[in-house]
Amino acid sequence: MKTLAIETSCDETSVAVLGPQGEVLANLVSSQVAVHAPYLGVVPELAARHHVEVLPRLMGALEQQGLLGDLELVAVTQGPGLIGSLLVGTCYASAFAYARNLPLSAVDHLEGHLVSPFMNLEGRPAEAIPDGALTLVVSGGHSSYFLFSQGKGVPLNRTRDDAAGEVFDKVAAALGLGYPGGPVVDRLAENGDPSAFRFSPPRIKDPHGELDFSFSGLKSAVIRKAQELGLAPLSDPQNPPREALDLLASFRATVVSWLLAPLEVFCQRYQPPVVAAAGGVAANRLLRSELQRWGEASGVPVRIPPLALTTDNAAMIGRAGQLRAAAGLLADPLGLEPYARVSWKGSGERGTGKRVFPPLATV
Ligand code: KG4
Ligand code: ZN
Repeated sequence: MKTLAIETSCDETSVAVLGPQGEVLANLVSSQVAVHAPYLGVVPELAARHHVEVLPRLMGALEQQGLLGDLELVAVTQGPGLIGSLLVGTCYASAFAYARNLPLSAVDHLEGHLVSPFMNLEGRPAEAIPDGALTLVVSGGHSSYFLFSQGKGVPLNRTRDDAAGEVFDKVAAALGLGYPGGPVVDRLAENGDPSAFRFSPPRIKDPHGELDFSFSGLKSAVIRKAQELGLAPLSDPQNPPREALDLLASFRATVVSWLLAPLEVFCQRYQPPVVAAAGGVAANRLLRSELQRWGEASGVPVRIPPLALTTDNAAMIGRAGQLRAAAGLLADPLGLEPYARVSWKGSGERGTGKRVFPPLATV
C-alpha cells in the first residue's frame, strides 16, 4: 500500500512516502536542533509549536513533488514521545486520513526503529524481517535489545536509568559542546585515546536483569573527571585539549563496549540469524564498526541502517505502519490518542510472553 507517514514524537518533524513494498520515495526531515540548542535539551512547548509550523510546509513539499496521489494508507507515530509534539502529528494524520477516506495506522516509535535496519534507500524495497532477528534499539530515550519472534518485538533487556543517547547529550552539555551531544562527542572521540581513562561497569544485582544497562553512573563519573581536569566546561569548545579528546574517546569506547556486552549471551541463548542496530546512537562510528567487526568474527550477519534511517525519520514509521496494516491492525481517525510513555514495562526476560508490540505481519 502506498503510504504517507508522519513522525513528530520529539524534535524532528518528518514526513515520508513509501511505495507498496516499503520503497522510500521521499523522506523529509526538518530538525529543530537550532531551536533547542540554547537550552541544551528539547523544550517540549517549543517543539510542539515548531511542528505546527513545519508539518504543513513539509506536506506542501510532498504535494509539489506529486507524491500525495494514489495514497492507500496513512501511518503516524502514536507514542512514546512528547505529548504536545505527538498531538500535532496524530491530529494531522487523523484529519488527513479521515478527509481522504484512507485507513490509518498508529505506530509505536520503537516499532519504527525496530524495522529500520531492514529498509533500503534509493527506492529499493524493504526486506522481510527474519524470525529471530536480534536488534539493539539505542537512542535518546531507549536502550534495549529486542528479539523479533513470530512477528512480535520482544524486549530482552532495558536501561535501569539513562538511555545511551541521553548520556552522550549530558556529557557533551557538561563540557559545553552543545546539543545534541552524540554527533560531536563521536567526532571528537576519533582523535582521542580510548584507553586513557577506565570506568567501572555497573553492578546490577537483580538476577532477572543482569543483562540490563545502566549508564547514569558512567555519566556522573565522566562529568566528575571532566570537572577535576578543569574541562567542564571547556574554555575553547572548538579546540578541546588532548585530555578532553582522551576523556571523550574513553567515554565513547565504554558506552559502546557496554552496549555490545550482552550480545554474546543473547546470541548463545537465541541463535539469531541476523543482528541489527537502530536508533540515533546507531549512527555512532565506533558502534557501527565494532558491531561489524563482531559480525565478521562471529559469522553472524549484521545489519545497520543507513545514517538517514538511524535518527528519527518518518520512513521507518511508514514501514512499521505497512506491516501493522498487513496484520489487520488499523486505528480510528476519530479516536486516536497519543501516549507519552513506553507501552511496556520491565525486562522481557522476566515475564516470558510479555511483548512490546502487537504482531506485525512478516511480509
Ligand atoms: O533516535 P533519535 O533520533 O531520537 C530518539 O528516539 O531519541 O536519537 C537521538 C539520540 C541523541 O541522544 C543523539 O545525541 C544520539 O541519538 N546520537 C548519537 C550520534 N548521533 C546521534 N549518539 C552517539 N553517536 C552519534 N554519532
Ligand atoms: Zn527515535
